[in-house]
Amino acid sequence: MAKVVAALGGSLLRPEVEERHAWLESLTEVVRDCVAMDDKLGIVVGGGVAAREGIELARPIVDSEDRLDRIGIAATRLNATIVRESLADAGIPVSGSIPLSVNEAVSLLEERQVVVMGGTRPGHTTDAVAIRLAVASGADRCIIATNVAKVHDSDPRTNPDARSFDTLTHSQLQKIVGPAEHSKAGPSQVVDPIGADVAAEAGMPLCILDGRSISALRSAIEGEEFGGTVVG
Ligand code: UTP
Repeated sequence: MAKVVAALGGSLLRPEVEERHAWLESLTEVVRDCVAMDDKLGIVVGGGVAAREGIELARPIVDSEDRLDRIGIAATRLNATIVRESLADAGIPVSGSIPLSVNEAVSLLEERQVVVMGGTRPGHTTDAVAIRLAVASGADRCIIATNVAKVHDSDPRTNPDARSFDTLTHSQLQKIVGPAEHSKAGPSQVVDPIGADVAAEAGMPLCILDGRSISALRSAIEGEEFGGTVVG
C-alpha cells in the first residue's frame, strides 16, 4: 500500500485552461484507480486565479501580508472544496471535511483513503502544506503538480536558455528556489522554498511535474517514470 501526497497548483483549475472539465474528470479517474489499489492519497489544492485576484483586490487597502495570506488561504479552500465535492460525487471515499491543519489531515488520512485540503496558516503556500503533510503522515513521496514540466535553473518564461533538470538533490533545489522565507502573499517559486527546506530536512522525495498532463500526474502517483524532475 503506497501513501502519496500531491500538491495541485491552483493554476490547474483556472478558467483559461482549456479542457479543465476533462482535467477534473481525469483527476477523478486517477484517484479512483489509486483507491482501487488500496493506496492512500492526500491532495492539497492551490489558490490559483482566485487567490491572485483576491490578493490583488485587497493589497492597496490591506497593509498586512498575513491578512493577504488569509485571503489566499480562503481561495485554496474554495478550490479544495471544488475538488473534494467532485470526488465525493463520483463515489470516492474522500474525507467529509477540508482539514484546517496538517495534524487534522494526518488523522483524517488514517480513517479515509483520500483527504483533500487547501492552505492552513499564513506564511507559506500549499506546496509547503503538502510537503509537511507528506512528512507528518509518513508518505512515500510528495508530488508538486505545477504548470512547468521540470525545475529550471532560471524562469523558462523569461529566459529561453534556462536549463532544466531530470534529477536534483535537495540542496540543489534549495539553491535554485532561494532562502526559506515567505516575504509576500501571492505567486511564488516553482516550489515554495519553505517546502523545499522541510523536504530537505526530512529527506522527503519530491516529484515535480506539469499537472496539466494527467498522464504525468498518474505516473508519479503510481510510482512510475513521469518525465518531470525528481528531487532527493
Ligand atoms: P498557493 O498555495 O496557491 O500558492 O497559495 P502560489 O504559489 O501563490 O500559487 P499556485 O501554487 O500557482 O496556485 C496562494 C496564496 O495563499 C497564501 C499565500 O499568500 C499564497 O501565496 N497561503 C496559502 C498561505 O498563506 N498559507 C497557506 O497554507 C496556503
